[in-house]
Amino acid sequence: MIFRWFIFFLVIIGFNWYSSLAVKTITKNSWIYYAYLLVNLLIVLNFVFQIILKNFSTYFFYSLGLVMVSIAFQISVIVFLFIEDFIRFPVWVYRIFGNGIENSLSYIPSRRLFISQLSILLASIPASALFLGMLKGKYNYKVIKHQLTFKRLPEDFNGFKIVHISDFHCGSFDNKEKLSYGIDLINKQKPDIILFTGDMVNNIADEILPWKELISSIDAPHGKYAVLGNHDYGDYTAWNSNDDKVNNLKKLIDLQKEMGFTVLKNAFKKIKINQSTIDLIGVENWGSGFKQKGDLDKALLNTNPNDFKILMSHDPTHWKEKVLTHNQHIDLTLSGHTHGMQFGIEIPGIIKWSPAKYRYKHWAGIYQELGQIINVNRGFGFLAYPGRVGIYPEITLITLQNKESLKSV
Ligand SMILES: [Fe+2]
Repeated sequence: MIFRWFIFFLVIIGFNWYSSLAVKTITKNSWIYYAYLLVNLLIVLNFVFQIILKNFSTYFFYSLGLVMVSIAFQISVIVFLFIEDFIRFPVWVYRIFGNGIENSLSYIPSRRLFISQLSILLASIPASALFLGMLKGKYNYKVIKHQLTFKRLPEDFNGFKIVHISDFHCGSFDNKEKLSYGIDLINKQKPDIILFTGDMVNNIADEILPWKELISSIDAPHGKYAVLGNHDYGDYTAWNSNDDKVNNLKKLIDLQKEMGFTVLKNAFKKIKINQSTIDLIGVENWGSGFKQKGDLDKALLNTNPNDFKILMSHDPTHWKEKVLTHNQHIDLTLSGHTHGMQFGIEIPGIIKWSPAKYRYKHWAGIYQELGQIINVNRGFGFLAYPGRVGIYPEITLITLQNKESLKSV
């Protein structure tokens, strides 16, 4: 453990020193140089103290965010300096060969002022993006609308509106006013049903309490349904006893019920309009590399294979590994979990990129395979890094459409 901390500080000090060389090049004022070193060091020390004190409050996540801003800045500067050094080194070696080893240090070519200025200028872009992501990005709610057409959707469900939301991570919320705006935006879509696909909390059920009333105000005539996400089981925090952990999950489900959600744990519910019904199926978390309590076979028991089916499953890897290959046709699957890693670039029709794509094949938005559709919601809340850059909190509005009705238009 001590060895790991030693390596950690060695890397941090190394980054700080290397990137500071650019500051040293552009200013003769040594106060600015030492202030740069000190600020970066304080940011890291503050974060380490929060870890030692086990203070995993909102402040902890902000201190983590600041570390990310600082490291992003330093790495960006280092990239430039490293390229410059890559050129300076052979020049130095060449001079040594030409002039001899004596006074060899004085042969080192000096740093170009322009390179250092450019490195600091360009490094400010990712650093300030991460900073702004904490101030504004995380509450920059987006309503993303999809009209999806299905062959076997009953006529009565033509135009049925689903609001799909996911990953509240209640313990991360820190602004009631902004959250109220987001909740209001959900209700403004006037959905027929609201489907929440897991991760209501980060770790413990009590995270819901400050926001309970607000979340309760989400409303739809056909009700609101929820499933469990990997964070809901309390697996990422320490418990005094297993009973405490079990009771926490029970409390989480009870609180969701009190807020008006029906929690589907490997179960299904028939949604009825006039004489027509569709099956709404909800499974527990099933993720590749995560908890695998989801049991699609159990959830589908007593359903009719010919009926239109919507599945709520937190982790989109479940779709790829279990749902697509299942002998029953699941028309529409709704997932979350990826958060689009809260970082990326999205310009509709031009670019859609996030580091999330290297971990998850289906990481945001609509995908269609084998005649089945999945929507991966980018998440309503945020986790760890208390911000979002380029991938914003999402409220999905899905309007179902029957293929036959489309033909008759
Ligand atoms: Fe999540």
